[in-house]
Amino acid sequence: MSHLEEIKPFGRLTPAVQAELVAIVGAEHVLTASNLAADEYARYGRDQTEDLHFSPEVVLRPANADEVSRIMRLCHAHRLPVTPRGAGTGLSGGALPAFGGVVVSTERFNRIIDIDERNLQATVEPGVITQVFQEAVAARGLFYPPDPASRGSCFLGGNLSESSGGPRAVKYGVTKDYVLNMQVVLPSGDIIWTGANTLKNATGYNLTQLMIGSEGTLGIITRIVFRLIPLPTQQLVLLVPFRQEAQAAEAVSEIFRAGMVPSAMEFMEREAIEWSARYLNIPLNLPEDVRAHLLIELDGQDLEALYPEAEKAYAVLEKYDIGEILLADTAAQKEELWKLRRNVGNAVRYMSVYKEEDTVVPRAELPTLLRGVKALGEQYGFRSVCYGHAGDGNLHVNIIRGELSDEQWHHGLEEPIRRLFELCVQLGGTISGEHGIGLVQRPYIGIALPEANLALMRGIKQVFDPQGIMNPGKIF
Ligand code: LAC
Ligand code: ZN
Repeated sequence: MSHLEEIKPFGRLTPAVQAELVAIVGAEHVLTASNLAADEYARYGRDQTEDLHFSPEVVLRPANADEVSRIMRLCHAHRLPVTPRGAGTGLSGGALPAFGGVVVSTERFNRIIDIDERNLQATVEPGVITQVFQEAVAARGLFYPPDPASRGSCFLGGNLSESSGGPRAVKYGVTKDYVLNMQVVLPSGDIIWTGANTLKNATGYNLTQLMIGSEGTLGIITRIVFRLIPLPTQQLVLLVPFRQEAQAAEAVSEIFRAGMVPSAMEFMEREAIEWSARYLNIPLNLPEDVRAHLLIELDGQDLEALYPEAEKAYAVLEKYDIGEILLADTAAQKEELWKLRRNVGNAVRYMSVYKEEDTVVPRAELPTLLRGVKALGEQYGFRSVCYGHAGDGNLHVNIIRGELSDEQWHHGLEEPIRRLFELCVQLGGTISGEHGIGLVQRPYIGIALPEANLALMRGIKQVFDPQGIMNPGKIF
């Protein structure tokens, strides 16, 4: 990655430092290319971003904040780069050890410490799988709404670090809206709590929100306190086929203007749902003329109250050129539709390497964004599969490698991606809604953030991490 060249050289992992690491976490939790099978070790150098791979010098699996603190002090003293890692499901390269060095895996931080039903809160470790947490709180009648598509394997700590969202953000907000407090190990080795376990907090700068979305560049999260809400027990899911993509995008803002608050409002181009069905082996016979779908979910405590809401949606939708709406009200039907939606990313990855752009604009600008993507594709000769959280104006643009030459893939896409991001910003949007800047969007951050903003961020980084060892090469 040529854009990383200006970062200063780091220290090396000497046998003496390695011996100290063994003393901290125990030999079985110090993984290297020589004590782990090659494919297992390579896993720690990848995430789900394109086909990128960087090899760490060593992978550590600490068990508690104290061990993380001792690791940080050592790495600080020897100026070793430290890359925190969750489950490796990221899509911007945030967990890739771009400078080798030390990967700190949170895989052993996998305990749900407490579900506090009196306060509707939960305290967890960052290596808990998001869906495991959702199910644990649901068993107590509680709801943790953020649900990234990778919820079956991603870690909560990674969700916080990348400020992830998912389909239900449109009604319930994103991950950051559920975090009250966090324990963090700073690059100095100091262990802090960022806030308080309260719904309100007007006590100084908001370090909790500063840490969220900081992509492992300021510290390592070792404990999280979430707020929870009561679990909605009823859902209706509608799959609405459109004969024109742009109309699907237009209908989105109109549904909100009609006074509805759906719990999901997802857009899928024809190929997105088609590839997902093929990938999952689910039969799906789309009429020839269907170009896109909206997947709309309504939720609440009372099923009978959801049908009139669905009627409202129908009243808006029937003005558009749509096919027959599928109303899913059995658990199996709903689950199948969600499975199709959640697997779009996996399906596209299965078909081709792709570059994922996580564009986001104000909701009503979505049709302009979508037309812009397709126009750029025509002009620069690339194919894209678009889908995403239309209710949030958040469109995932998957640029397919397909038949592109090495030259086109590695260099020819910079200009259209730049123009795509410029369009987002012109429309009042920005260059990532929920996947983060990480490694791959780093060259583009100047499109979204002026120098004054970047200077503030660099200043913050300097205060937290004067040696520049925390996840170097990410964000800016
Ligand atoms: C999704 C992931 C890619 O929405 O964000 O499927
Ligand atoms: Zn998404």
